[in-house]
Amino acid sequence: MTKTLPTDQLTLPLQMPAGRATPPPDGRTCIISSEVGPEDKQALLGLFARSSPETRRDRFHHALSVFPQFYLDEIASGKQLAVAARDTCHEESYGKVLGLASAASAATSIAEFAVWVEDAWQGRGVGTLLTRAILRLLAKQHISTVIGIMEPGNFAIRRLVNRIAPDATTRSQDGMIIVSVPLTDLAAELDARS
Ligand SMILES: CC(C)(COP(=O)(O)OP(=O)(O)OC[C@H]1O[C@@H](n2cnc3c(N)ncnc32)[C@H](O)[C@@H]1OP(=O)(O)O)[C@@H](O)C(=O)NCCC(=O)NCCS
Repeated sequence: MTKTLPTDQLTLPLQMPAGRATPPPDGRTCIISSEVGPEDKQALLGLFARSSPETRRDRFHHALSVFPQFYLDEIASGKQLAVAARDTCHEESYGKVLGLASAASAATSIAEFAVWVEDAWQGRGVGTLLTRAILRLLAKQHISTVIGIMEPGNFAIRRLVNRIAPDATTRSQDGMIIVSVPLTDLAAELDARS
C-alpha cells in the first residue's frame, strides 16, 4: 500500500486501544486529520458499518441503517467540506477512516458542521482533533459563525464544543440544541494549536 496520506497532521496525546500495535516511539499520535475524496467512499461506508445505532442516531438524529447516499456523494465529491481521521501507524489498518467531520454552507458566512467518531475510538481525542480541523478550514474560508445541531442528551458533543469554543452559545429549537460558534476570535487560537 502506498503510504501517502494527505496533509494536516496534528498531534494529540493518544492512548492506543488495547490489542493494537504500539504507538510511535516518539509519543506522537497515530491519528491524523486529512482530506476526503471519491476514493474514500468505501472507507466511509466502513466507518458507518462500525458505528453503533446510538452513534448513528446522535450523528444523523435517526438510527439510520444505511449511509445517506446524498451525504456520501457530497463529501466524497468535495461539495461539502470534510476531514477524516485516519490511522497512520498500523499496517493492517493504515489509512482506515475512524471519524469524519463535515460542514455545509447554511447562509452567507454561516456553515453547519457535524462530527462523528466510530465507537471503538471515542474518548481518545479524535473528535476534538476533527472538530478543530474543520473549524480551522471554515475559518480559512472566512466563515464567521458555525452552527451544530445536537440531541439534548448528547453531553459528549456539548462538552467537546464547550472545551474547544468556550464562547459558543446554545439555544433550543424543535427539541434539539443548536450551538453557535463564533469563529472570528477562535481562528487564531486554532491556528496556534495546529
Ligand atoms: C461526540 C463525539 C464526536 C466525540 O468524539 P470523541 O472522539 O469521543 O471526542 P474526544 O475523545 O475528543 O473527547 C471526548 C472525551 O474524551 C476525553 N479525551 C480526549 N483525549 C483523550 C485521551 N487521549 N485519553 C482519554 N480521554 C481523552 C476528552 O477530554 C473528553 O472528555 P469529556 O467528554 O469528559 O470532556 C463522539 O462521541 C461521537 O461520534 N458521537 C456520536 C456522533 C455525535 O454525537 N456527533 C455529534 C453531532 S454534531
